[in-house]
Amino acid sequence: MEKIKVILDVDPGHDDAVAILLAGRHPKLEVRGITVVAGNQVLDKTLQNALNICEYAGLDIPVYAGMSRPLLREQVISTVHGESGLDGVEFGTVAKRAEDQHAVDFIIKEALASQGDLVLIPVGPLTNIAMALLKEPRITKGIKEIVLMGGACGQGNYTASAEFNIFADPEAAHIVFSSGLPLTMVGLDVTNQAIAYPHVLDRIKGLGSRVSRMVVDSMQSYYAAYLTLGDWPGPAVHDVCAVAYVIDPSILQVKKARVDVETNGGLTYGRTVCDFRAAPDRPANAQVAVGIDQEKLWDLLISVLEQY
Ligand code: BDR
Ligand code: CA
Repeated sequence: MEKIKVILDVDPGHDDAVAILLAGRHPKLEVRGITVVAGNQVLDKTLQNALNICEYAGLDIPVYAGMSRPLLREQVISTVHGESGLDGVEFGTVAKRAEDQHAVDFIIKEALASQGDLVLIPVGPLTNIAMALLKEPRITKGIKEIVLMGGACGQGNYTASAEFNIFADPEAAHIVFSSGLPLTMVGLDVTNQAIAYPHVLDRIKGLGSRVSRMVVDSMQSYYAAYLTLGDWPGPAVHDVCAVAYVIDPSILQVKKARVDVETNGGLTYGRTVCDFRAAPDRPANAQVAVGIDQEKLWDLLISVLEQY
């Protein structure tokens, strides 16, 4: 079986951490590298969290530090991942270090070397991907598709209008959505249903490994933060959905749409405006996830967590 070559672009982040675990051991994926961006926390912290996760889980994947700031806007960080960006998990001393190359240059190098079969999976603000597209527009030839976690057709989570990853760098998102590349937007419309319910955490706990314990601890801390936002039955593990879709597209139902990112609005700044109406002058530029098979998602994740 030929593996799918992917670059996972992350800002860990509790759900990013689980996305790394899913991508890192799935036999269908060849993770060429993990690129890190500022988002859920400042870059120093998101980078350290990515290194910690890889070392803890024994994943020998190169990690690259990327952009520490959004393209234009002032920096915002998330409110649900805590001071470290991954509160609730202690890693101790970790030897793994980031590679010397900048994440943006790594993405460019990989895309230029690819035969058009590279898949980018960004699950944080889109700053690294936009920078790569700006710095070397020829990379589009090497990229098969972008499957991103971000945006929403319905209500946002960071503001009423905007989802966090898009709100954290709307101008970068605009560049990515207008790149002409095949794009799948895995937004809150489905990821808010990827809830780590108690019965899911029980199954993960039942695996009895140190990685499964770490996942459960981190999910419990993440859930405590979620409860400050409302009456959630568990935390939403957003980023896992994008990776899962690349592994098994039948997990999500998708629909073609024209998606534009609002970069001018006040109240609507960072909104992904999704238009499902077909119009010759405004062709679809993305497919948008509109449905999710939750059981399939958890079965997939647990089958991979079993490998640790
Ligand atoms: C997204 O924002 C972050 O908090 C999560 O890691 C996820 O990528 C959800 O809005
Ligand atoms: Ca994320």
